[in-house]
Amino acid sequence: MSAFDQVSDRLAWSSTKWEKYRGRDVIPLWIADMDFPVAPVIQEAISAQVAHGNYGYMLPPQALTQAMLDYHQRQYGWQIQSEWIVWLPGLVLGINLAVKACCEAGQSAISFSPAYPPFLRAPGLQGSELLNIPFLPRPGCLTGALEYDIDFARLEAAITPDTRLLQLCHPHNPLGRLYTGAELKRMAALCERFNLFIASDEVHCDLILDGVTKHVPFALALAEHAPQLVQRTITIAGPGKTYNLAGLGIGWAIIPDPVLRTRFVDGMQKLVPDPSCFAYSALQAALNDAEDWRQEALIYLRQNRDLTSQALDQMGLPHTHPAATYMTWIDARELVPKVGKVMVYFEKHGVGLSDGADFGQPGFVRLNFACPRSLLIKALERMQSAVTAAKA
Ligand SMILES: Cc1ncc(COP(=O)(O)O)c(C=O)c1O
Repeated sequence: MSAFDQVSDRLAWSSTKWEKYRGRDVIPLWIADMDFPVAPVIQEAISAQVAHGNYGYMLPPQALTQAMLDYHQRQYGWQIQSEWIVWLPGLVLGINLAVKACCEAGQSAISFSPAYPPFLRAPGLQGSELLNIPFLPRPGCLTGALEYDIDFARLEAAITPDTRLLQLCHPHNPLGRLYTGAELKRMAALCERFNLFIASDEVHCDLILDGVTKHVPFALALAEHAPQLVQRTITIAGPGKTYNLAGLGIGWAIIPDPVLRTRFVDGMQKLVPDPSCFAYSALQAALNDAEDWRQEALIYLRQNRDLTSQALDQMGLPHTHPAATYMTWIDARELVPKVGKVMVYFEKHGVGLSDGADFGQPGFVRLNFACPRSLLIKALERMQSAVTAAKA
């Protein structure tokens, strides 16, 4: 049995994912964290700091900044500079700050949908407008597979002189999709033509499930198209998803242009705290020493993804077969006339999923398969009986 197979009692530590269903027999496969213990090297780094016994204010250590530079070079061939990094205690914050830095009242920010909900909400919250461009569904090559294209025609037609920002989720949550080289090029050309800023959230970029495909930061794709475009980018990322550190609260924005960076930092207006001392130490261990663990996690996740796809094929529900992330996006609209709200229906049958309505697509649900296989199998069996009952 591997460490990934162990079912731990996350209710003992008031896990958001598990508390939602405390006292109910519901397997929680909703919010995006993993039910796996972190890499032992990360746990050791935190333990060493606990043993030190002083938890006062802490600056990001120079060794951490160096680890960031090395990691970006090694993983993506991207040479970043230390002054480009703005540390953040969370990434939703970064999504909002990017809109605030790039858009004024009456201006708009693009998001493709379905989308991780903060992309749809941030423009309104920051006093600008959302330009929502739905993905175009395309029948996939695998049975039951659900694939999506960017609707470039609709995008081009919708952009106005007041459109300021392209928000990108790269790789995409909830679709688990990578953008092709051709799509990146086409988006880069649009950014140049319409003078757009780009906020690219790349938090899922080290969760490309085949373990070999290299992530291309959108800033690099832009640089290839036209080097000056890099000055219009804000790249948001962090270790929360890949290394399961969401509860530690740490991430970053990489902003090469000093003027844009100042606008972004000014937006914090002293309302935003620094990441905690434990978060810096955990991140340094993740960047330097957790690659073996990451590769093991990818193998486990890949098998869980395949299992999920097979089970959904048997249920007859169209679904994505994600290339990245640990989320499968499921089209359950067929069940709606019989069961009403599908998320609630599956909860009644013992499985807690995310409601597609929050991502802009009612009738869909998102399933997080980053859990021990025994739990996943049980949840998929419950879903199968729920679907059978609904279709009877
Ligand atoms: C694309 C994306 N960005 C940001 C976040 C959340 O980041 P944080 O918890 O650091 O605010 C998530 C969480 O699922 C996500 O999928």
